[in-house]
Amino acid sequence: MGSIALNEKPHAVCIPYPAQGHINPMLKVAKLLHNKGFHITFVNTEFNHKRLLKSRGPKALDGLPTFRFETIPDGLPPTDVDATQDIPSLCFSTRKHGLAPFKQLLNKLNDSSDVPPVTCIVSDGVMSFTLDAAEELGVPEVLFWTTSACGFLAYCHFHQLIEKGYTPLKDESCFTNGYLETVIDWIPGMKDIRLRDIPSFVRTTDPDCFMLEFIKRETTRARKASAIILNTFDDLEHEMLGAFKSLLPPVYPIGPLHLRINQLPDIDLEQIGSNLWKEETECVEWLNTKEPNSVVYVNFGSITVMTANQMIEFAWGLANSNQTFLWVIRPDLVAGDSAILPPEFVTETKERSLLASWCPQEQVLNHPAIGGFLTHSGWNSTLESICGGVPMVCWPFFAEQQTNCRYTCNEWGIGMEIDNNVKRDEVESLVRELMDGDKGKEMQLKAQEWKKLAHDSITAPSGSSYINLDKLINQVLLSPK
Ligand code: UDX
Repeated sequence: MGSIALNEKPHAVCIPYPAQGHINPMLKVAKLLHNKGFHITFVNTEFNHKRLLKSRGPKALDGLPTFRFETIPDGLPPTDVDATQDIPSLCFSTRKHGLAPFKQLLNKLNDSSDVPPVTCIVSDGVMSFTLDAAEELGVPEVLFWTTSACGFLAYCHFHQLIEKGYTPLKDESCFTNGYLETVIDWIPGMKDIRLRDIPSFVRTTDPDCFMLEFIKRETTRARKASAIILNTFDDLEHEMLGAFKSLLPPVYPIGPLHLRINQLPDIDLEQIGSNLWKEETECVEWLNTKEPNSVVYVNFGSITVMTANQMIEFAWGLANSNQTFLWVIRPDLVAGDSAILPPEFVTETKERSLLASWCPQEQVLNHPAIGGFLTHSGWNSTLESICGGVPMVCWPFFAEQQTNCRYTCNEWGIGMEIDNNVKRDEVESLVRELMDGDKGKEMQLKAQEWKKLAHDSITAPSGSSYINLDKLINQVLLSPK
């Protein structure tokens, strides 16, 4: 766009849902728009702003003259705890308390002579209260659903799942009597789906379950957006993407975002990061000493919480597999407790393992030493694994991770699922299979194929996501409402 006067520059306000798996991809969208000539205001919650300053140092949020950070409160009681906030409480609170401070912020920006007038809003899909502010301002708003297309498509059918009586579950017996195996064959674009593959919020017997109502409302409100963006690519989720046509405003798959970011020449932007925990970069040095495809990477993302017993089963499963592993154990990974591993496990595996509390995951999954990923199937992790050509063992925890797991294992051919009631023997055998078995080799090859398609999708001039980003900008973000 070259050099243009300040007040002629388009100004995008980007507001993520305040959790790690949402902030990361939104920051990437913001950087891409900045690279295309937009002035950016990136809105964090006060709570996360403080955490980012702590994890990344005082200069981390200085931004650039054309890329600035602002904050709004999340509406929850103040706390200094350095951990993931409770997701339903955060959904409830942002929905209830988010709009007023967001509107105030927009007014402040529009009254300022330092920044151009706000011309568009890019908001997380589960922060749909922002649509009201965009409407009042008369600017286009794009909703960014940070899920896979398959996960989002399943979410979009929550109202029908409720109407048809699939959820809430009749009683507790539905968890064990095979009811979750019920086949759902009426969602256009999805095949071989069972109720257990639908995002986990359907697994409730509470007729007033907040998360059911929340998802139903947020997906309904998505129809009011100017467009929807997804961090995926057409080759991977073609059928699901096609199914949105009759449901929603135009959907633009523009991912994998992190691959596009790696192409940007802007060194200054590289300094702007979004990790809420401090990265332990020593992992990469350790990986540098390992043979190609020789290390299992274990990480359950930013929200998963497990019991102390589940952690011990994973630990002994990994130990007994005899594989070399890098295991990232978040300080708040174990429910109500600090994560304590058996001392015998630590002694037995210390020659062939590295334990860390947070790592630069994109770099790790792109490292030649990594041969497999034991994951919770969060969408960012899944996509980062696909882009690194790394096959997975999946232990989905919640939300649309169940759907991601189903597609990873059954449609894309690059994963094997571990039973929710995790046992060390199963961890051992699946990890061995992943690293050494025939199925593991088959998945390796398939993962390499997806990796190539992922890279193709963001490559100029004909990659589908490459084209979609330009279309999004020209057809929506730069178009008057
Ligand atoms: C959750 C959902 O699972 C996800 O599907 C949804 O779209 C967003 O919220 P989360 O548990 O945060 O996600 O997992 P994931 O989506 O995989 O995101 C985690 C992010 O943190 C990834 O971008 C990953 O690279 C990063 N990360 C994780 C690190 O940088 N270092 C770590 O040690 C762990």
